[in-house]
Amino acid sequence: MTSSERRSRATEAFFGRRKGKPLREQQLERMSSLLPALRVDLSTPSPEKLEELFPVPVDKLRLEIGFGGGEHLIHRATETSSTGFIGVEPFVNSMAKLLAEVEARGLRNIRLYDDDATALLDWLPDACLDQIDLLYPDPWPKKKHWKRRFVSQANLARFHRVLKPGGLFCFASDIDTYVNWTLVHCRDHGGFEWIARNAADWKTPFAGWPGTRYEAKARREGRGSAYLTFRKV
Ligand SMILES: C[S@@+](CC[C@H](N)C(=O)[O-])C[C@H]1O[C@@H](n2cnc3c(N)ncnc32)[C@H](O)[C@@H]1O
Repeated sequence: MTSSERRSRATEAFFGRRKGKPLREQQLERMSSLLPALRVDLSTPSPEKLEELFPVPVDKLRLEIGFGGGEHLIHRATETSSTGFIGVEPFVNSMAKLLAEVEARGLRNIRLYDDDATALLDWLPDACLDQIDLLYPDPWPKKKHWKRRFVSQANLARFHRVLKPGGLFCFASDIDTYVNWTLVHCRDHGGFEWIARNAADWKTPFAGWPGTRYEAKARREGRGSAYLTFRKV
């Protein structure tokens, strides 16, 4: 893909809000100093070894798309310092919140991208990631908006290209039609094996799951969740 093609669809899969309340002074300061230091620079070619993005040695690489409040990303990056995490979130206030946590905890195994994840996916080298987490993606419950859902054949092809052989795609949602949608899309793609053996497997949160803000809201509103794990075949 040429750089002009990439620019022309820089928000191919992002339809949400970019800004909420005005940021406080310290948040603005982190956005202008810490974010540029951690942001993955798509204007330079991706390193052959993606591990080189991190200032500390890492032996696994994970991508979280749409980290929102950042609860999951911060939890995982703290518990597994030997894994390098790339977090993507275009919503400015969420990014500012995450930067504060990264700074407070001194995390060095996180890199960030603050725009549409599809642009980052197209920048990544082939077969570089151990896992992709897509947790409570925007549900777009109305049928006329389903085409906006992040799970699509185009994005599954992207996932398939950047995952290592045997790499995992983990998906969580509280919206039944999106869960079915994802199962059908992965089946039709053909390059992903759903590894559930019984209902408990997809009703039980992923190991070490900390919950997310969006999930807590779903529970308050009386909705359960499905946790789907697919392996690249
Ligand atoms: C429903 S929220 C869930 C947030 C978080 N994962 C959670 O569980 O609390 C979905 C998030 O995905 C982000 N998002 C939507 N489209 C995106 C895209 N194309 N690339 C990256 N992030 C995206 C939104 O900004 C939003 O923060």
